[in-house]
Amino acid sequence: MVNKKLFIVCIATFFLLGGTLMASGPWIDEIDEEDTLSIPVGMLSLGAPDGVEQERASVDFPHSRHMTYSCDTCHHTWEYHAILDTCSTSGCHDLTTPPENAIQKGKYTSEGIRYYKYAYHKMCRDCHRDINAQNREKTKVTNISGDVGTIQNLPVGCVECHPKE
Ligand code: HEC
Ligand code: HEC
Ligand code: HEC
Repeated sequence: MVNKKLFIVCIATFFLLGGTLMASGPWIDEIDEEDTLSIPVGMLSLGAPDGVEQERASVDFPHSRHMTYSCDTCHHTWEYHAILDTCSTSGCHDLTTPPENAIQKGKYTSEGIRYYKYAYHKMCRDCHRDINAQNREKTKVTNISGDVGTIQNLPVGCVECHPKE
């Protein structure tokens, strides 16, 4: 008797699970295209905006290697919707020439930073400089114990970002 009951329970479980497996598709049944953001994950080639005669080679930017940071480290006005403005959106870093007397007044003032070149240099180079400095500090500490390790040096020099053509 006991075995028969067990058998029925087993069969019931089998069908229950089977039924569930067949009915379950992906967990998300539907994605609204308008709520979808597509993220470039390869190498982005950053060049000057239209109308600017480029003095230096374009800059290779491995986008996805930066995704250990929160997106708004760089996309600082993004509100996590499906639309993500480009850096040169009107009113953002949309100046293609430096504002007057930028050098004297400061490159990184609210007016100066609208010049796309200053914006990129400040963001990219400052972060790499900070990280290189932190890495050098770390090696100083490990040097005492005799373990030199390898220092990762992120690009901060002109030709490291703009290779000679
Ligand atoms: C270290 C800075 C940095 C980080 C962090 C970063 N991005 Fe970007 N991303 C950029 C730059 C620079 C561009 C090129 C922007 C341009 O051309 O105006 C870009 C481009 C994009 C684009 C294409 C925009 C377009 O022109 O259509 C999308 C989408 C995007 N990023 C999404 C993300 C998401 C999502 C994250 C977080 C998971 C992220 N990014 C993290 C710097 C970054
Ligand atoms: C908030 C900090 C931060 C910002 C902003 C940032 N980077 Fe980086 N970058 C990093 C880190 C950290 C790495 C190393 C990632 C790894 O090891 O994979 C890196 C790696 C790189 C590399 C690869 C270096 C190598 O040795 O292979 C390039 C090229 C690069 N970044 C270019 C850029 C450019 C161009 C920008 C601006 C559009 C930028 N980065 C902005 C932190 C940053
Ligand atoms: C961390 C990467 C990085 C470093 C280091 C860097 N740049 Fe740039 N630079 C960029 C990015 C990104 C842009 C915007 C995209 C573009 O125009 O190529 C840019 C833009 C420029 C532009 C305007 C576009 C052009 O080609 O005319 C000039 C000029 C320039 N950089 C010169 C320099 C010089 C000179 C140095 C060294 C003192 C330097 N950059 C260092 C990333 C870098």
